[in-house]
Amino acid sequence: MNHLEHFFCSTSLWQRLTHRFLLPWVLSGARLGDHVLEIGAGYGAATGHLLKLAPRVTSLEYDARLIRRLQAKHQCAALTTLCGDAAALPFSDQSFSSAVAILVLHHLKTKGQQDRALGEVHRVLRPGGTFFAFEINNDWIHRVAHYGSTFTPVTPASAFARLTNAGFSKISVDFRSGGYRVSARRAAAEFTNEKLAAASATA
Ligand SMILES: C[S@@+](CC[C@H](N)C(=O)[O-])C[C@H]1O[C@@H](n2cnc3c(N)ncnc32)[C@H](O)[C@@H]1O
Repeated sequence: MNHLEHFFCSTSLWQRLTHRFLLPWVLSGARLGDHVLEIGAGYGAATGHLLKLAPRVTSLEYDARLIRRLQAKHQCAALTTLCGDAAALPFSDQSFSSAVAILVLHHLKTKGQQDRALGEVHRVLRPGGTFFAFEINNDWIHRVAHYGSTFTPVTPASAFARLTNAGFSKISVDFRSGGYRVSARRAAAEFTNEKLAAASATA
């Protein structure tokens, strides 16, 4: 992140906007279940709100300095914080009931890393779990705001195919000025080739 992003993401204004407007729109009343994974938590603008919505939150962040700040800000048993990479999540399969990534995907350096991250989110979600994300448009204002930072925009037109390739279903993409929200579900029951073969053998 550049200085402008560090400044803005650390403000109480961004935290208030996230709590009052952004998260209610992105989550749109969905139940998050018992254990939420927050990816790219940054200064924790969303973390406090997620802690109100779920009994357990695990917040992952790439920048070790931000993780230390997050630990100091929220000292509670319901929150686990750790340093890690969204493209190589340090969790076992099917660990979380839901996952949230606000303004994170465009910070991954390549499309390949983004696709690996989507695959990783799918892997660590339990069947029936939902991934929620908010991303910004590839317009001049966002390109200028990311000067000297990473900006690998995820076009909304590509989001559906990329989430499908990662294994997700029930994908929705909705727009607002400046950005868009995504929700995508890991199917509740997955029909592997072995399961299909077993089912046809008994039919
Ligand atoms: C624009 S900030 C958003 C932070 C927070 N979600 C918010 O809404 O305030 C993007 C965050 O993603 C983090 N990030 C970048 N690459 C990452 C990766 N590979 N894995 C996890 N987090 C990453 C950055 O360090 C940064 O804190």
